[in-house]
Amino acid sequence: MFTQFFNNTKINSLRLKSLSFALTITIFCSLYALSQPTHASESIIAEKSGAADNLKSEEKAVRENMVVISRQLGVTCLTCHNTDNFKSDKKHEFQVAREHMKLTQMLIDNGMDGKKSYKADCYLCHRGVLKPVIQEPKPAK
Ligand code: HEC
Ligand code: HEC
Repeated sequence: MFTQFFNNTKINSLRLKSLSFALTITIFCSLYALSQPTHASESIIAEKSGAADNLKSEEKAVRENMVVISRQLGVTCLTCHNTDNFKSDKKHEFQVAREHMKLTQMLIDNGMDGKKSYKADCYLCHRGVLKPVIQEPKPAK
């Protein structure tokens, strides 16, 4: 059927040209219509998406922070989270992590803030491992 329509006679190529012209016009018109804001609903949408943007950027910041701490401890999200519920504090690692977040903040608040010195973070002690070595090596004889 289509091969019949598109065969190489003059009439059909003319038809094809007017068809594609009509198609182009249609596309332009609908694109123009789409680009025109409907003023009544515009402000509501703007407000809503503003609040959603804030929430989104907060969530994004949390996620980015989580990626950083995972890297600094050399673990994945699953070490501390049950992915069904990121709020759950059931895991031992989650509980310690929450304590160590406070600890890290305490160090930042007490001068390790990156201004005069190193800014405290998980890497300061963890060095890419979940359980940093805490045993001082025996002194050499
Ligand atoms: C070392 C442990 C640890 C790792 C690894 C970790 N998280 Fe977290 N995550 C926490 C702790 C602790 C909190 C709670 C922070 C708080 O209470 O302020 C948290 C909070 C969150 C929240 C917010 C939950 C809420 O309250 O709505 C999300 C989402 C999240 N983590 C996602 C991730 C993702 C994704 C990864 C992997 C890239 C990850 N976490 C890796 C410990 C961890
Ligand atoms: C001042 C040093 C220090 C800082 C800073 C620090 N930690 Fe720790 N962390 C430790 C030490 C020491 C251990 C205990 C290692 C052991 O038990 O063998 C530990 C243990 C942990 C554990 C438990 C490991 C386990 O399986 O028992 C988690 C989880 C943890 N830290 C998360 C974090 C996170 C997340 C941060 C950054 C927000 C952080 N820590 C910052 C020193 C630190």
